[in-house]
Amino acid sequence: MHLHVHDKPIAAFRRWNCLSRSEGLPEYGRPFTMDTIAHAVRQRPKRFSPAMAAPVTQDGPALLSVRDVTVQFGGIVALDAVGFDVLRGSICGLIGPNGAGKTTLFNCMSRLYNYQRGDILFEGSSLTAIPTHRVAGLGLGRTFQNLAMFRTMPVRENVMVGAHSRSSCGFVASALRLPRVRREERRLRERADGLMDYLGLSPFRDRAVGDLPFATQKRVELARALAADPKMLMLDEPAAGLNHEEIEDLARLIRDIRDRLKITVLLVEHHMSLVMGLSDHIVALNFGRKIAEGSPAVIQNHPDVIEAYLGTPR
Ligand SMILES: Nc1ncnc2c1ncn2[C@@H]1O[C@H](COP(=O)(O)OP(=O)(O)OP(=O)(O)O)[C@@H](O)[C@H]1O
Ligand SMILES: [Mg+2]
Repeated sequence: MHLHVHDKPIAAFRRWNCLSRSEGLPEYGRPFTMDTIAHAVRQRPKRFSPAMAAPVTQDGPALLSVRDVTVQFGGIVALDAVGFDVLRGSICGLIGPNGAGKTTLFNCMSRLYNYQRGDILFEGSSLTAIPTHRVAGLGLGRTFQNLAMFRTMPVRENVMVGAHSRSSCGFVASALRLPRVRREERRLRERADGLMDYLGLSPFRDRAVGDLPFATQKRVELARALAADPKMLMLDEPAAGLNHEEIEDLARLIRDIRDRLKITVLLVEHHMSLVMGLSDHIVALNFGRKIAEGSPAVIQNHPDVIEAYLGTPR
């Protein structure tokens, strides 16, 4: 299934694909080795020249600031004083072997988990006292490592669930179906329709999510997250379970979401050539600790990252 997204970044992506095929660069879908990381990073300027990429700008504080966050589950330290910033307009990769603490950090940002020490600031304000149901309204959208949707409900309703977190109508007004509630619902429905169109989901709008192929379900979840009009999109392993062609579509889409929709992206992913090819900045975790951060070139040469993945010192 191809996405119906037509714009400059797509042309750039196609150009990169041609380069990758004709010049023997690593392609998405190849198994991950440190060689493929190194090769992907060395070739990165060819794939995404500065002219193709939207500039990362920073006025004022970072959009997201994770400060010395510590999370413990009994004796397990899932996050140990982890800190980093995500600049507005950037794509930030968050990598690390299994159990490194990536999803735990996402769960802290979504306020599903509490942190025992440290703080997370979004647009300069602490998330500590924010209840889970207000997170989407602040502008933080996410997808889940294991899909989280209403499987028996149609695609359109699932997407509208995301849009509702931005509704300004309260419980009483909704119950009374006041005219402004009907206007608001029409607006949310149009937004959901526009997003389904953007993501190539319109043909499935009335189908139950659980009946759709896995890659399509993942896109429904992405549409739900986008429907809340987020400032930052947190993607937890969006490439997991996708085939080569679907991962190419995903790469194109993530770049377009940042470039055209102007949404900052925090990307957790094990697919190294995808992360290395897309990220402006990467943070690496291992056993709950930050072991490195920097550009893809810095990360792929970092001895602690190489050791974490390959299990042997360089
Ligand atoms: N609710 C929980 N209760 C107890 N331990 C937990 C809980 N959530 C996470 N952990 C533990 O915290 C550590 C970090 O887990 P986390 O799921 O954040 O890793 P991850 O980096 O997302 O790994 P993966 O790449 O496999 O998804 C692991 O040791 C995990 O077992
Ligand atoms: Mg995880």
